[in-house]
Amino acid sequence: MIQNLSKLAVIGAGKMGETLIKALIEAKILAAGQIVATAKHAHRVEEVTARLGVPATLDNRAAVSEAEVILLGVKPQALREVLAEIKPVIRSDQLVISIAASATTAFIERHLEKSAPVVRTMPNTPALVGAGMTALCRGAHANDEHLARARQIFDAVGRTVIVDEKYMDAVTALSASGPAYIYVILESLAEGGLKVGLPRQVATELAAQMCLGAAKMVLETGAHPALLKDAVTTPAGCTIDGILQLEEGGLRVTLIKAVVEATRRATQLIES
Ligand SMILES: NC(=O)c1ccc[n+]([C@@H]2O[C@H](COP(=O)([O-])OP(=O)(O)OC[C@H]3O[C@@H](n4cnc5c(N)ncnc54)[C@H](OP(=O)(O)O)[C@@H]3O)[C@@H](O)[C@H]2O)c1
Repeated sequence: MIQNLSKLAVIGAGKMGETLIKALIEAKILAAGQIVATAKHAHRVEEVTARLGVPATLDNRAAVSEAEVILLGVKPQALREVLAEIKPVIRSDQLVISIAASATTAFIERHLEKSAPVVRTMPNTPALVGAGMTALCRGAHANDEHLARARQIFDAVGRTVIVDEKYMDAVTALSASGPAYIYVILESLAEGGLKVGLPRQVATELAAQMCLGAAKMVLETGAHPALLKDAVTTPAGCTIDGILQLEEGGLRVTLIKAVVEATRRATQLIES
């Protein structure tokens, strides 16, 4: 159970909000009755209650009023409007957690016009299967305890790391957008398998489990990826021929550029 948390309001329970609610209930960190969710459209409110068993409403103010922790799950473009709506009912003893890309803690604090503690986070969709990666940083009014309370929520869905806020757009481009890059790589590797005769389903399973295994090797051995790559690449073997193709195709530069360009874009999703 999360300390001092009897009610969590998820304002904007979309894909990411639903993932977090589901994980918190499954991990028994919160009971369904300790959560209230909101959405913009009535059909989504009904869907959230039907799928997750949590009370849901269109009324953001009512949800905020009854909660100790408020998780802002709306898109960056909807954040300004939602902050204006909940501003009159926010109290400085409530903890505000945002998962919105691009929105700084200063932006949220400014629009709330209260000294409520704000923790900015950046989760990713593998949270759905308990393999998420979330970075967190604190705003001007948040202390270690606020950060720890926020962290407990995301620890339920994977790994967490505390970073300085100046890194949050880079985190967005790397670990939040990253699953999409890996799906492209995984799909392409599976198609390579297809080209050399493997059935599609087998090729996809081979590629996916291989990606999972390679990632686990990096995390669990702590070894540099280059050393792990060298251990697979035997002299005059077949792997070096594959690597030559990757280098010729500019895979490294392409991936570096993907992160750089997505970081640039992550600074622009919301106007200050
Ligand atoms: N998806 C990712 O991979 C990912 C990763 C990290 C962070 N994030 C962040 O997570 C946030 C949500 O992304 P998402 O992919 O979950 O988007 P999403 O599925 O579109 O969810 C947004 C939810 O906000 C609701 N909403 C919109 N306006 C609202 C309002 N005025 N009051 C209450 N609810 C409102 C929508 O309700 P309706 O359904 O009724 O329209 C929707 O359910 C974004 O800020 C994004 O930057 C996403």
